[in-house]
Amino acid sequence: MPGEKKKLVLTAHWPGPVMAALDADYDLTAPEGDNRLTGEALFDALQGAWALAPVYYDKIDAEFIARLPASLKIIASFGVGVDHIDLGAARTKNLRVSNTPDVLTADTADLTIGLMIAAARGFHERETALRNGDWAGSAVGESLHHRVSGKTLGIIGMGRIGRAVARRARAFDMDVLYSSRSRKPELEASLGIIWCEGIDALLAEADFVSLHPALTEETRHLMNARRLGLMKQGAYLINTGRGALVDEAALVEALKAGHLGGAGLDVYEREPQLAPGLADMANVTLLPHIGSATTETRAAMGLRVKENLDAYRDTGEPGDAVV
Ligand code: DGY
Repeated sequence: MPGEKKKLVLTAHWPGPVMAALDADYDLTAPEGDNRLTGEALFDALQGAWALAPVYYDKIDAEFIARLPASLKIIASFGVGVDHIDLGAARTKNLRVSNTPDVLTADTADLTIGLMIAAARGFHERETALRNGDWAGSAVGESLHHRVSGKTLGIIGMGRIGRAVARRARAFDMDVLYSSRSRKPELEASLGIIWCEGIDALLAEADFVSLHPALTEETRHLMNARRLGLMKQGAYLINTGRGALVDEAALVEALKAGHLGGAGLDVYEREPQLAPGLADMANVTLLPHIGSATTETRAAMGLRVKENLDAYRDTGEPGDAVV
């Protein structure tokens, strides 16, 4: 019955079928179309709310959390990354936090492979030329790019997405090196991947480097000027994880200097801003954080949030609890 539904606030409009499912079971407040619910309008909407379901780009910092009403019990985030939420502040306020792992793994891994191929084979440069009427495809010995198959991929961070990227890369006959907090002998055996003792060792060997650790204070600027300098001459950096894993200004310098072959990026340090110079580079493929942006996955993410909320409402324990 409507009066008994718990109040849930979304900061964005989610895919249609998810909105319908949420509306059936919750007292739902959400903006329409492309609008976003932010600032004071969000705090007004949150009065009396039981749950807030933000998106991975909404900044839920300590100041924001301190202002949340006492009725608010859970932050059920739409997305797997929780670096946008101050988890310590949530804990202090006895708030539960959940995320949506698993459902976006395949799409993000697909996009990672896509960016690797796009960067190495010069999709951006080729397509731009073609759209400008320049059919350069018949040049036999000039303007050539680089092969992906059979090369060495270094994966930093071997969680769900890192593993899915490794599986796909093996299908391209790539040698896959990995570095992560702990060694994973079972994956080495099942996927035929090779452990590197430390990131620096991996960078010295890899033709492509793909970043998949969670963003924390420890991993911020993991790829700094020194580490970019350790990458092989002509290697490619691929980032579908979080922008701040890379010192973007240092990346622009490394690209300008011709040390790197190129980069494929879906995430940026200061989204939606790009570091000066990045957009002017022909050997960089740039996407606007679309790792999970398919109809299938965005619906699955929304339904996963609903499952997490339902579990919390019905059992007192949210699904995919982070806090
Ligand atoms: C996430 O869920 O954290 C992703 O960045 C969304 O694509």
